[in-house]
Amino acid sequence: MLVAPSILSADFGKLREEIEAICTAGCDLVHVDVMDGHFVPNLTIGPVVVSAVAKAATKPLDIHLMVQNNTFFVELFAPFKPQYLSFHIEEEKHPHRLIQKIRDLGISPAIVLNPHTPPSSIEYLLEELDMVLLMSVNPGFGGQKFIPNVLEKAPRLKEMIEKRNAKTLIEVDGGVNNQNIHALANAGVDIVVAGNYVFGASDYKSAIDSLRV
Ligand code: DX5
Ligand code: ZN
Repeated sequence: MLVAPSILSADFGKLREEIEAICTAGCDLVHVDVMDGHFVPNLTIGPVVVSAVAKAATKPLDIHLMVQNNTFFVELFAPFKPQYLSFHIEEEKHPHRLIQKIRDLGISPAIVLNPHTPPSSIEYLLEELDMVLLMSVNPGFGGQKFIPNVLEKAPRLKEMIEKRNAKTLIEVDGGVNNQNIHALANAGVDIVVAGNYVFGASDYKSAIDSLRV
């Protein structure tokens, strides 16, 4: 299991130290939540802060867009060279075109599904995607309770990926902790995002290690 701590739960008063700490603790990716106050009822960070995040991180960035007007934000964040740029399918009329655009920028494209969105909505995009992110909370805030329907969605998605001989990874985001990590691993999940669980721990390394099942 790969682990991507979400910096949404970090102490923004000492963001550089927080990012250095999770990278030293051995995380695989640094998950960055971008919210615009329209697609979700919260507002987070823009390019000024993400630039500082990119400089502090020694692990690749995993940028999760929760915005309207995805194309604008893709262009805004591409210069920071994240490993993944993911956008919500619920907010995109032309996902195929946007996937191509992200790939042309040299970044791995990923799509995010809200808790109610079925994996079948992206079946015909799977070969084009490096990752699918399944939300296990309603996007907008850290520290929410895990919605277990993702345990049913992940195996369905995995089956679709295998049937199509695609290499797409499955990531889960929201309410992940040491209580649900084994069920997520059994469901075929490759990467977990964890905000509160990692940054709420006194020892980031043991929190990250406890998710590496
Ligand atoms: C929610 C964000 C998540 C969130 C995860 O909209 O996409 O990345 O920060 O935080 P926890 O692990 O605390 O649910
Ligand atoms: Zn996220």
